[in-house]
Amino acid sequence: IPVDPFDYIVFGGTGDLAERKLLPALFHRQLAGQLTDPTRIIGASRSEMSDEEYRDYARKALEEHVKEEERDAEHVKKFLSRLYYVSIDATSTRGWDTLKALLAEGEDRVRAFYLAVRPSIFGDIATHIRDNGLITEKTRIVVEKPIGRDLKSAEELNNTIGEVFTEDQIFRIDHYLGKETVQNLMALRFANALYEPLWNSAHIDHVQITVAESVGLEGRADYYDRAGALRDMVQNHILQLLCLVAMEAPSSMEAESVRDEKLKVLRSLKPITANNADEVTVRGQYKAGASSGGPVKGYLEELEGGVSNTETFVALKAEINNWRWAGVPFYLRTGKRLATRMSEIAITFKPIPHSIFDETAGKVIANQLVIRLQPDEGVKQWLMIKDPGPGGMRLRHVPLDMSFAGSFEERNPDAYERLLLDVIRSNQTLFMRRDEVEAAWKWVDPILSAWESTNQKAHAYTAGTWGPSQAIALIERDGRTWHESD
Ligand code: BG6
Repeated sequence: IPVDPFDYIVFGGTGDLAERKLLPALFHRQLAGQLTDPTRIIGASRSEMSDEEYRDYARKALEEHVKEEERDAEHVKKFLSRLYYVSIDATSTRGWDTLKALLAEGEDRVRAFYLAVRPSIFGDIATHIRDNGLITEKTRIVVEKPIGRDLKSAEELNNTIGEVFTEDQIFRIDHYLGKETVQNLMALRFANALYEPLWNSAHIDHVQITVAESVGLEGRADYYDRAGALRDMVQNHILQLLCLVAMEAPSSMEAESVRDEKLKVLRSLKPITANNADEVTVRGQYKAGASSGGPVKGYLEELEGGVSNTETFVALKAEINNWRWAGVPFYLRTGKRLATRMSEIAITFKPIPHSIFDETAGKVIANQLVIRLQPDEGVKQWLMIKDPGPGGMRLRHVPLDMSFAGSFEERNPDAYERLLLDVIRSNQTLFMRRDEVEAAWKWVDPILSAWESTNQKAHAYTAGTWGPSQAIALIERDGRTWHESD
């Protein structure tokens, strides 16, 4: 469905996110026929650049990040004609008049400011936007993580933006919520009658959420070394996934209903403190090894000689203190330079109460539902069946397999495609509300301080493996194992 014309103003318009994600995503929406004239995309950043130079920059970004067969020449031309550039300084008045003049043309359009810049200048940009009278009735602002590095800084940042914009104008992006399979989790849970009666501690043994990456620092050493895996991935993406698995059925897909339910989950997380952090959390840091078929440096070497105890891997056992989930562990793990790039949610049901089969039939394995986010998006429901053939009753563990690539023709859109247009449509369902972000920090903060006060070490693991052996011990102590994808 085409969207009414809008103006997207991207601060950090020549940055990494704009190049890799935002421009390609908007281009794909143009291909899908959703951009109508005179929609404009205005890049804004400090460097001096003309509109033509910015179009050139965007052409290269598309060449790099959009498949050749998708780069239809007419569409590229049309898309580039929508681009403008303003050289602007967040901390002075330079460039703001130019932006104001440019936007004057589209006063009645939806206007979205996307802050793909470091959070320390969010406040300056917001203030300039207000002082230059750029906030219309249809204005929204989009902010990227990191939203703070602890509860206090997150509150400060939220206050700063909140001084200029109202909560319904603020879109806090967590791009995991835009991933197809993540949205599918909601369809699976709430568009089927099958799972809900089983979706609780009486029938679910435990849940695992893994977000494994094979990449290392990707040139972000500065940011990453101050963040670490817990802040970078768990506080946001992984906790959001956990919320979607654990929340009660919202009364509708309306933003406040969904976000209210997620918030309740975050507030029910059992605190992890210095008393139990050693038992239920494991930190890791990669050392040199092999990844994607070649040798790779260790974390400290990537830091160029730095000394650091920052974790590039974290595994933890979370629990939710409410009626539905009491006693069901949620094992979470994420890391850089792991064996492969793989993200999934694995839900293991309780074992059958009694087996009627004898030893020759083989072991009865508990049912598992595996939701695969990437790569090879899809859902597998693992079941026991009888091995076909006349060989008597032998049991076999097989999946009901719905691989999306195999089942559907459509290409799988990037998370940003959906989210960027949700901003224009003013649909907040897949964005984080202020209280959610802060509730997540409230749970994460004590873990960070426990690590500090107990000097919890980041255990070394070889790049290209599944993390430190302590992470395996964390789950095996409970008589369970990490799910290995088949
Ligand atoms: C970002 C993190 O939010 O998510 C990165 O800052 C991480 O460190 C990335 O690599 C992972 O996103 P995706 O979509 O590639 O799984």
